[in-house]
This record gives sequence, C-alpha cells and structure tokens, in this order.
Amino acid sequence: MEFTRPRGTRDFFPEEMEKRRWVEARIRDTFKNFGYGEILTPTFEHINLITAKSGEDIVEHLYSFEDRGKRELALRPELTAPVMRAYVNELQSQAKPVKLYYIANCFRYERPQSGRYREFWQAGIELIGSSRAEAEAEVIALAYRVIKNLNLKDFTMHIGNIGLLRKFLKNLGITEQSNFLALIDKEEHEELEKQLESYGVKAEDRKLFFKIISLKGNKRKTVARVREFFNDKEILEEMDRFEETLNYIDNLGVEYSVNFGIARGLDYYTGMVFEIYARKLGAEKQVCGGGSYSLAETFGGKATPTCGFAIGFDRLILALNKDGIKAGNDNGHGVYVIPVSKEFIAYAIKISSDIREYRVCEMELKRRKLGKALSYASKKGFEYAVIVGEETKDNKIILKNLISKEQEEIDVFKMKTSLTTEHR
Ligand code: HAM
Repeated sequence: MEFTRPRGTRDFFPEEMEKRRWVEARIRDTFKNFGYGEILTPTFEHINLITAKSGEDIVEHLYSFEDRGKRELALRPELTAPVMRAYVNELQSQAKPVKLYYIANCFRYERPQSGRYREFWQAGIELIGSSRAEAEAEVIALAYRVIKNLNLKDFTMHIGNIGLLRKFLKNLGITEQSNFLALIDKEEHEELEKQLESYGVKAEDRKLFFKIISLKGNKRKTVARVREFFNDKEILEEMDRFEETLNYIDNLGVEYSVNFGIARGLDYYTGMVFEIYARKLGAEKQVCGGGSYSLAETFGGKATPTCGFAIGFDRLILALNKDGIKAGNDNGHGVYVIPVSKEFIAYAIKISSDIREYRVCEMELKRRKLGKALSYASKKGFEYAVIVGEETKDNKIILKNLISKEQEEIDVFKMKTSLTTEHR
C-alpha cells in the first residue's frame, strides 16, 4: 500500500520553507507599516457563512462535511467572510477604521494545476469602516507596495468598478446579478449575450454592455468614455467617486490601468475592484484580487463600508521563483562547531549553545573526522567553522573562515566579537 499526499496539496521542505517564511516576513512588515494588526480565524466555519454571499464559484468548490454533532461545516475557501464574521461578533464597537491582516491557508476543491491548488495560502487585509476614496486608495497602494517591495518584475495592476456594472445591470432590469458578474469574470461572452437576450435586453443595450466591459486603458480616456455613454445620475456619481480614488493613487506613484471588465469571482463586491497579474504565470496569472464590498450586514452586523484584498501567496512565490529571487539564508552566515574527538564533545555543545545566542550555529553530530566535517560544512555553505580541540585547555578555539580558508587560534572569550563584528 502506498501513502501519498492528497491531490492538490504539497509538502514544503526546509529550503522552500526558508523562502516562504522570508517572503512572509516581508509581507508582514509592509502590512504592519500601514497599521494593520494580525487576525487568525478558525480553519473551518459553519457552511452558511460561506454560502451566504461568496457566490456560486466558491460554493461549488467547497470542502464541506458534517461533524459528529451533525453540524454542517466547511474548510475556509478564503478569509474575507470569516474575518467579517469575527468583526461582527467581537469588534463592532471598536473605533473605525479597524485594520486587520492575515496570512493563512485556504481550501478549494479545484482542478489542480500549476498555480492552482486545493490547499493554498492567502496574505490579505481588510480595512473596515471607511468608504472614503482615500481609504480605497490606501488599500490599492498597499497591495502594490507589497509586490513592489518583493521586487517582482513584470506585474500589472488593473482597476475596475463593479458599482458601474451593477448599476448598469439594474437599469436594464436585472437585479439578480451574480450569474452575470460570474460570466463577465470568466469572459464567457457568448453565454452572457444569450442571458442578456433572455432577460429581454435590447440589442443596442447589449452592444453598449459589451462596450463597457471591454473598456480598458488610462483613467482619463476610460472614465470619459463612460461619461459619454450615460447620463444616469447614479452612474455619473459612481464615476466621480472612482475618479477621486484614482487621483489619490496617481499621487502615490502606483502604476495601473483601468479595466471595466473586472467583475471578480466573488459576490460581495460593490464598487472599486482590482486585480494584479504576473504575466509569466500564464493561465493562473492572478496573484492578487480585492475591492470594496459589503458583508457585515449579511452576518447580522451594522452595514459597514469595507475594502480589502488577498494575495495568492503560492502564486507570488512561483512568480518570484521565475525571476530567480534568492530568498532566505542557506546557512550562509552560519557557524559549524566541530569537536576533534569525543573528549571535546561536551565543550563543543556548550560553545554551540553560546553561539546560538547571536548566530545560526550547528554542531557536528555524526562524529566525522575533522577533514570530513570541514568539507561537509563548506558544502552546506557555512561561513565559519569553530574547531574545538586541545587548545580549549588554554581557553582557546580555532576559528576557520570557510570562504577565505584562513584560520586563527583565538581566545574563547573573544569568539563572540570575532563572529559578530570583525569578520562580517
Ligand atoms: P480571490 O480572487 O478568490 O479573492 O483569491 C485571492 C487570490 O488567491 C487570487 O488572486 C489567487 O492568487 C489566489 N488563489 C485563489 N484560488 C487559488 C488556488 N486554488 N490556488 C492558489 N491560489 C489561489 C478572495 O479570496 C477575496 N477574499 C479577496 C478579498 C479580500 N477581497 C476583499 N478582501
């Protein structure tokens, strides 16, 4: 019998984990610099939390189960709904805005391929309690900053407005909009045309609808086109608001293009939406998605304007790998302690423990001869070897620089100074 990983999951070994933790630390720092605090919600939730407003695409791909108490539960497919549930449960009385971030695993029963897994990680934020354009601009700028700070090359940001699409659909008499937004998101234009027709939408309105969702380009041109097409007050106000957000982003040096075809795969968005693509990832190029949405009232809370995004952590790593980033430390700055014989093991253990107070340190654990232990340490990329032998009787050790191959006998009490300043 063979024991294998479940389909769509991965094992991460030390080298990969080093890189993931390194990227994670950088993302965390950027989130914190913008004033976000970390939240972690349960891995599974009551299924109705997820089915309430996430949309068909998410619900179709749920990992759901019944527990022994006959409760219907689901592994979280994303964190926006859980975070908003937790906010409604515990944080509603806090001063606004409430700024929360998460880096956590999610589960979707999707067809696995490169960049698409059944267990994957999201790094995201939710800014709860401000509907202002500057709040939206800050959220977009944060997503952009995270990716920029990691030096990802060749990524593009696309900003759209679901508010415009919703208002247009409403004017066409379509109030049940999920299906339409899902078809726009998946770019299934033939089916979309059929559906619009079946709702009795006139040919000229259908044409305009396709014109709008195909509008892409710079702010000035795209927004001006929408203004030419409509004289509906609500739509024009939506455009004013959209433009205000974009003006603030321009001040922040964020590069983007407007794309009114962005409809997102989830049902809760209400206004500005955005996605970031890493072209080099091919079909699964979307490394980040987010926008303004409304969920608190769905979970029994007070209606609260909210804006957020989630970065697909695994896709980001894949894209960074393609750029050949070197992340993490591969013992490159470490120290390898070698006792030359059994008699010096206890002392080597003590020395290793001291060095670990200030540097990465490993000790020879296989009792290899000095020469073999040194070549192992060099191969593994250690910077120094500390050789523990007869000299320790005079409180000295041999410190060997494994890169320059120079070595010297030094006083044990001066070891820390040598390993932390002189040689670095
Ligand atoms: P989402 O677009 O469904 O949005 O997911 C966010 C990101 O997670 C995607 O852009 C993608 O990079 C990554 N992702 C999604 N599914 C998979 C998968 N099967 N394998 C690997 N990566 C995947 C949300 O989840 C929203 N909650 C984002 C948000 C936060 N909106 C407002 N606040």
